[in-house]
Amino acid sequence: MNLKTESINKNFSSFAKLLHWGFVILFLYGLLKQIDSINQLEDDNLLMFEVIFALAFLLLLIIRFVYMKTTQQSSIPDHTPKSQKLAAKIVHYGMYICLALIPFSGLIIGWLFWLDLKDGFLINLVIGIHEFAVSITYWLIGFHIVAATYHRLKKDGVWSSMVPFWKE
Ligand code: HEM
Ligand code: HEM
Repeated sequence: MNLKTESINKNFSSFAKLLHWGFVILFLYGLLKQIDSINQLEDDNLLMFEVIFALAFLLLLIIRFVYMKTTQQSSIPDHTPKSQKLAAKIVHYGMYICLALIPFSGLIIGWLFWLDLKDGFLINLVIGIHEFAVSITYWLIGFHIVAATYHRLKKDGVWSSMVPFWKE
């Protein structure tokens, strides 16, 4: 196998793809069921559901991160400019950080609410952080999809290593 085919033949494992696409569905579900007003947390069942969902989301995210970092490698070809490799790293780590910050800040909101600190500077600050993390996540996912499409057009194997449709 020569160097060129070696660098475009990388593929993610089935489990890595399951984690990646499973998270896309889980995140979309999280957006669909989002809370529109803090008063909704007065419903004990909803508060409990939010907390369980956030804990499960965080646990799965940690499992995904550890699995990806210890067993998988980016498919970005070796000859890609350093600046592009760095940009990909920043976006990937950025997504992990924001995806962790959303449930983490959500759990603090739930905790403050449960402590009866339902109004005031502290809870509003944490809600602000929660909403900021959601906004940054949208931006990062946007960049990520544009970058993936750019690699698909370049036909360098990055797209097909993760995406099951419109294969090269
Ligand atoms: C909720 C939406 C998404 C999130 C949070 C996300 C996150 C990530 C992350 C963190 C990685 C790095 C590998 C890992 O640690 O799993 C990755 C890889 C990748 N994603 Fe996504 N992704 C999303 C949606 C998409 C979509 C819609 C596409 C394409 C249409 C896509 C295409 C890719 C490709 C091609 C890779 C491989 C990049 C490489 O080899 O370095 N992703 N994604
Ligand atoms: C993975 C877990 C979670 C996801 C994906 C998520 C997602 C969201 C989204 C998309 C928004 C709207 C942001 C915006 O409009 O800019 C939101 C707002 C909010 N979330 Fe979460 N959330 C999660 C966990 C939690 C938890 C555990 C709690 C509390 C128990 C919580 C409480 C709130 C509150 C109070 C708001 C603001 C509602 C308002 O506009 O007054 N979230 N969340």
